[in-house]
Amino acid sequence: MRRLILPFFFLALMLTGPAVSAQPLLRPDNIDAVLAAMTLEEKATLLVGANQGVLYGGSAETIPYELPATAVMYDNRMGVGGSTYSFPHLGITPIVMADGPAGLRLSVRHKGKEGEFYCTAFPVGTTLASTWNTELVRRIGEAMGEEACAYGVDVMLAPGMNLHRNPLCGRNFEYYSEDPFLTGRMAVAMVDGIQSQGVGTSVKHFAVNSQETNRKDNDAILSTRALRELYLKAFEMVVREAHPWTVMSSYNRINGPWTQEDPALLTTILRDEWGFDGIVLSDWTAKRHTDAQVRAGNDLMMPGNRDQMKEIVEKVRSGHLSEADVDVCVRRLLLTVLKTHTYQGLKPTDAPDLKAHATLSRDVAAEGMVLLKNEDGTLPLKDVRTLDLFGNTSYRFISGGTGSGRVNAAYTVSLKEGIAAAGYSLDSYLDGVYSAWLAYHDALRVGEQYSILRPAPVVPELELDRAKIFGREKGDVAIITIGRNAGEATDRRIPADFDLTATETQLIRDVCDAYHAAGKKVVVVLNVAGVIETASWKAWPDAILLAWQLGQEGGDVVTDALTGRINPSGKLTMTFPLQYFDHPSSFNFPFDFNGPPSFGSKMSVTGRVEPLVKDVDYTRYEEGIYVGYRYFSSFGKEVSYPFGFGLSYTSFSYSRPSVKAEKDGFTASVTVTNSGKVPGKEAVQLYVTAPSGGLEKPVCELKSFAKTRLLQPGESQTLTFRVDRYALASFNEAASSWETASGTYQVHFAASVADVRATVPFKLSKPASWPVHRVMEPMESVQELTRNH
Ligand code: BGC
Repeated sequence: MRRLILPFFFLALMLTGPAVSAQPLLRPDNIDAVLAAMTLEEKATLLVGANQGVLYGGSAETIPYELPATAVMYDNRMGVGGSTYSFPHLGITPIVMADGPAGLRLSVRHKGKEGEFYCTAFPVGTTLASTWNTELVRRIGEAMGEEACAYGVDVMLAPGMNLHRNPLCGRNFEYYSEDPFLTGRMAVAMVDGIQSQGVGTSVKHFAVNSQETNRKDNDAILSTRALRELYLKAFEMVVREAHPWTVMSSYNRINGPWTQEDPALLTTILRDEWGFDGIVLSDWTAKRHTDAQVRAGNDLMMPGNRDQMKEIVEKVRSGHLSEADVDVCVRRLLLTVLKTHTYQGLKPTDAPDLKAHATLSRDVAAEGMVLLKNEDGTLPLKDVRTLDLFGNTSYRFISGGTGSGRVNAAYTVSLKEGIAAAGYSLDSYLDGVYSAWLAYHDALRVGEQYSILRPAPVVPELELDRAKIFGREKGDVAIITIGRNAGEATDRRIPADFDLTATETQLIRDVCDAYHAAGKKVVVVLNVAGVIETASWKAWPDAILLAWQLGQEGGDVVTDALTGRINPSGKLTMTFPLQYFDHPSSFNFPFDFNGPPSFGSKMSVTGRVEPLVKDVDYTRYEEGIYVGYRYFSSFGKEVSYPFGFGLSYTSFSYSRPSVKAEKDGFTASVTVTNSGKVPGKEAVQLYVTAPSGGLEKPVCELKSFAKTRLLQPGESQTLTFRVDRYALASFNEAASSWETASGTYQVHFAASVADVRATVPFKLSKPASWPVHRVMEPMESVQELTRNH
């Protein structure tokens, strides 16, 4: 917690400062007076962020524009991502903002202070969602909020909640799932957690920011049904239920306009339909049409350039922008200022409880790992004393992704360290070889300039001589870690990223051959940022543990799973296809076989070109609502691992499924029993199949889920689920209305989308509908395309 110094430190400033005027000082009850006291220039300055030049290296304040003398720039000593200007004479304090989804992103050194200041690297968004445990996600949110509070940050630029439309999106690790309902529940928990500490959130990126390639200009062209049912749904849930202080409008366009300039998105849908009452701030964009942004309800232009202030002032003066529209945004900004710790005068302690948060990070990460394969009870390890560790990543674990979602943590525990700490002996030959390989690559990079958006590349896998593997088999078990990283501004590639490299495939093949010939087992650990191809090699090892990116405690967390200290209970929040092109979105997603996509922008093309480049300038979401399992299960497509899948060291049986109709929907329950030999937790998923007739629908959709507590062998727990009629609705484009059909619904209690354990019918006698504004429609041709899918 931060200590309260002076309730209103501007009071002191007023008493000691220069000429004392009769200006009002901002209070909850005098917003009108403060607004009236502001000059147009001051208002324009408040609506434009005080560009810290942090993210992009260097200040963008190139356009000469005189700031009002009353505006004060926040002294960014700790490398926050952004802030607003303050106006001490009116008691308007700055709003201090920092990333991000896996923990607070600040500099390690804070100007003017001795020592180093770290933040906790928590598991990334995908790992958190894989826990299917909203209570844990809420606790992570509380801890992040506490760290924000300790360092004097008012708003966290999190959570990231775009959908995993396609496995190659470079930022999927920051996001939760391919399913909007699961995403929405996770986001609600995260926002509740962070905001419980008096720290605001900025849910991002609103909306349809599904790719990084040309992210600032790409036009996402999609049906209003896919838009409302998939890409906006989680935002709707989080706005209605968790009331985030801010929403971050995305870089891209949707069906034409940039999101930041679209009143249909930022006002009609967000505010009029969903009741959002906070501020919208833009993602860190260069100047656009500032007047259009203001009119659309994009209250704050981030990171902010002075020419944006100039434009606001000039457009008001020339009559092209009404001052009343400016005032609407200013008022919302002032209301947000009032909520902040900075306004309330809470002094940062600079001392978050990093120890407690490290423990929390480890405990939560443990539930985010997904056990994909475990033949003959290979895991947990039994009667094993020595382990042979293969793969660079075993020796250098990846805690989280790159870009603004990265966290400067004090350390990352590697698998080697975790295993050694658990008392196993390691093969020193392998340790020596891999350490030398990593050191060699480090040496090659000396002098290279890396930055947040240009991270150091992952070290390529070491090509081990087959002869060195055969005959060595010193350890009782071999462990191979495959590593992948990804991040902001670049999408992933198919070769050597989604697919394994030839060296990695060979490594798994050779190690499996050698150890199996010696009667020993092989475990593959995936320390990855996103989905990879598994179908071609998954038959070879005895066990596969999908660790995702687990935060700073990663190596210990994986060791806990290997040794059985914890029992994995994570489940997939997206589908693992047999191959990349099985995803229907893959035909409308940028990919390049010849090299990495160009930096944050166009691939294979330079500058703006005619004609527009498919999937770069625009992307047609031709798959419509058939994203992820909605496609694979509706069209009977085989997958490598289905949505919701995850093994355990124990087994669970489901009994007494029941569904009870209620006035506004239904309540369901099922009893889960641990039918195996060790304690464990089970995430139960509730899918619903709608009655046939009416709108075309996916074969089933996730409508609820719940996780048991740790059940001892033989122990049972009854889980309950509540689904209301609105949650069952689909979007009827023709009528511009959400509609829930009457008829018989099938309610499935499932361990994964492909493993339904019980189905109970539920009858809805009356249909229901909720008309909404007919906005954001695409060109007719695209509507036709998606409709005919
Ligand atoms: C990212 C945002 C982030 C912001 C500030 C942008 O480039 O897209 O997610 O919050 O930078 O760091």
